[in-house]
Amino acid sequence: MCGVNGGYSNDSGENCEVRCRFFIHAKLPAYFHPLAAYNMNQHYIGLMSGTSLDGIDAALVWFERQDNGDRPVIVAVRYQPYTATLRERLRAVCFTDTINLVEYGQLDCLMGQLFAETANDLIEAAGIDRQHIRAIGSHGQTVYHHPHGQHPFTLQIGDPNRIAEHTGLTTVADFRRRDMAAGGQGAPLTPAFHEAVFGSLLENRVVVNIGGIANLTCLSAGSDSGSAGFDSGPGNTLLDAWARQHLGQAYDPGGEWGDSGQVVEGLVSQLLADPYFARPIPRSTGQEYFSMGWLQNHLTGHHLPAVDVQASLLELTVRSISEAIHRFQPDTREVLLCGGGVHNRALVRRIRERMHCPVVTTACYGVEPDWVEAVAFAWLARQTLAGLPGNLPSVTGARHPVVLGSIHAPGTPFRH
Ligand SMILES: Nc1ncnc2c1ncn2[C@@H]1O[C@H](COP(=O)(O)OP(=O)(O)O)[C@@H](O)[C@H]1O
Ligand SMILES: [Mg+2]
Repeated sequence: MCGVNGGYSNDSGENCEVRCRFFIHAKLPAYFHPLAAYNMNQHYIGLMSGTSLDGIDAALVWFERQDNGDRPVIVAVRYQPYTATLRERLRAVCFTDTINLVEYGQLDCLMGQLFAETANDLIEAAGIDRQHIRAIGSHGQTVYHHPHGQHPFTLQIGDPNRIAEHTGLTTVADFRRRDMAAGGQGAPLTPAFHEAVFGSLLENRVVVNIGGIANLTCLSAGSDSGSAGFDSGPGNTLLDAWARQHLGQAYDPGGEWGDSGQVVEGLVSQLLADPYFARPIPRSTGQEYFSMGWLQNHLTGHHLPAVDVQASLLELTVRSISEAIHRFQPDTREVLLCGGGVHNRALVRRIRERMHCPVVTTACYGVEPDWVEAVAFAWLARQTLAGLPGNLPSVTGARHPVVLGSIHAPGTPFRH
């Protein structure tokens, strides 16, 4: 096992020490190479909260210069779970089309404050002087993602003005909307980072981030920026929602409950018949689409034990991921998993059973799976400040590469 911070236990029991030692560095498209004058010896903080609404992932990262590219080195990490009350408030905003503006504004402020406090706690725990931190990259909390129609939009809350003010650090945020303005879906944004860090000149790989929604980046060997990246469909979101309803827990620990049920083939085929799974790429989705309402519609007429529904939802995630890999990059040589879903042992085991190639976690390539997204937003902030693009048009559908995000100047450091 190749843990970096000691906090991560490799649930899948993989042994990837060899890969760690023989790290094959990524290919970098020409326009991703940082400017020569840019000082590489600086730290960045990435702040991320995904569709699972579980909490904030924060990573303090340093980019080590190497001949064949820059490698992220995680210096410290922090996870700030949400309280049950905050989670319910966020869920109420995320799962309704109409929202009280006062509630929306207050949550934006509260989340900005919480992101800032998490960054401050991380800095304190790391014992690093703020002057060595170049910037924070904050994804925010997506409350709505609607990339289609005449007026596509995506909304992330967590006021970056407050993050800059209360940390005293330059804060880059609102990454997605510039890509949308350039005609893209604003998502997924991590593929450029995956390409830079996990790509190989020698073999085709797929990075699978199993968060609330599962995103795939197909990294083809030996070509620049030819990667495909898209959402395969639900990752943990439906599993979590069903576990919440029937176990009274935020998720099914290790996937054991779902693993003990019977997969109902008729239900799985019905769920997989949803047009989303047949869509071409680029495609992105959110939990406003793969919601409990969506599941309940499909359950009408079925009278199934709750545990069998969980088993079938597990199967839905496994099949939608593995079928997407077989369809969009059939000659994949290795699958790299990341995101909270790696802790669902049943999920990982079943994905392994369906793939004809090794399935490992990103820990094998130097980034612990729980922190990949936070590190990606540190990397994206670095791209922005270097005046370099962060999107891959082949992935988002944007007309051209764009420098992402808005930059908020530092304020006076917050005094506790
Ligand atoms: N021990 C575990 N067993 C099963 N699932 C887990 C475990 N730990 C985390 N998870 C899953 O990971 C999710 C959080 O993953 P994360 O990558 O943070 O998602 P997101 O990016 O959507 O916030 C949880 O909601 C849960 O579904
Ligand atoms: Mg999360």
